Amino acid sequence: MVHLESQVPALTTYFDTSATTPAAVEVLEAMTYAQSTAWANPSSLHSLGLAAAEQLERSRLSLAAGLDCEPDELVVTSGGTEAIHLALLGAAAGLTPGRLVISAVEHPATLAAAAQLQQRGWSVKTVPVDKRGLLDLDALDGLLVPPTRLVSVIWGQSEVGSLQPIEAIGARCRRAGVLLHVDAVQVVGQLPITFRQLPIDLLSGAAHKLQGPRGIGLLLVRRGLAIQSQLGGGGQEGGRRGGTEPVVLLSGFAKALELSHACPSPAPLRDSLLNRLLRLPGVRLSGPPPGDSRLPHHISLLVSSEAGQPLSGRHLVRELSRQGFALSSGSACSSSGSAASPVLQSLGYSEAEAASGLRISLGPWHRPTDLDALVEALQFVLASSVASADPLTANASSRSAQR
Ligand SMILES: Cc1ncc(COP(=O)(O)O)c(C=O)c1O
Repeated sequence: MVHLESQVPALTTYFDTSATTPAAVEVLEAMTYAQSTAWANPSSLHSLGLAAAEQLERSRLSLAAGLDCEPDELVVTSGGTEAIHLALLGAAAGLTPGRLVISAVEHPATLAAAAQLQQRGWSVKTVPVDKRGLLDLDALDGLLVPPTRLVSVIWGQSEVGSLQPIEAIGARCRRAGVLLHVDAVQVVGQLPITFRQLPIDLLSGAAHKLQGPRGIGLLLVRRGLAIQSQLGGGGQEGGRRGGTEPVVLLSGFAKALELSHACPSPAPLRDSLLNRLLRLPGVRLSGPPPGDSRLPHHISLLVSSEAGQPLSGRHLVRELSRQGFALSSGSACSSSGSAASPVLQSLGYSEAEAASGLRISLGPWHRPTDLDALVEALQFVLASSVASADPLTANASSRSAQR
């Protein structure tokens, strides 16, 4: 007999919540229960199928209550990437090809969906952001005219933590009669979402960022808005996404969202950590200051030698990993293979600065005492990196995923 507690790793040194999280024990328990009682196909007419359909409906109702939407506004997907593709390609299918407007700091999933729309006759325009990573609303206003038909904005930016003023953006889109999709993958579970009250047409989320399972996400679709299924099949999800529904994973997602609502905000802990990190020589904040415009669990730093020479974020991440800490460089490998982050470059940082990012994202498991060791480890790693001859180019090999 495996005890579920023993399946969850010790997390005190895991500071990479924005990349992913392990499923909470309660989530594993909910999924184990669903797996044993509701494993059948929810479309089957026998009693086992009905039990699965009931469990599916319970999870859908719970998620809808947690996000303040109608249960039939929720379409199950395999994660954030699929939800974003379904939102943009599915909504665009019902429109005459026109212009899609996105921000300069979108996740690669949105860029990939936008590229597909371009192949279908759409044009794509990018709205610039300021030094904090916040959208230029005047530039957006200028683009909310024909042929713009669709806007997609990342609500919480994974790398620099910026939270866009989504209500102001939504109000503008509504006035212009333009559909708005919001990538809320980093926001679901971190901040309350009241879909009913938001001027948003489509919203994407994923369970694995909030201690839910991997492989399940959702797209909220405003009632009355038709989207074309991108996966044909048995007509599941109101004909919007084919495939036998992942009942067990959805029960885990519902439990994870419920747990997230019971968690206190990580902001006070984050602020205390940030204050201490900013006292280290060569460390400064990128993205917005703590407050309403930053994800509450998120810190993004730029790191340089005391002389001001940017250090390699990737190198620091690897060194910190040797000390037992998991965090992220916050920089994605660009298509050119450079370690410089396109997101940081969009904020106006130089190529060298854009390769010196560090991202620290807290989880609900962190306690004040977990922070001391991280600050000490970063201090140690910084001192040894500054001592090395060419730290920025210390190791340029990289993985290419932006998380
Ligand atoms: C803001 C944002 N959007 C989309 C995604 C893609 O989500 P998934 O990995 O669940 O497909 C991520 C994942 O890191 C993300 O952070």
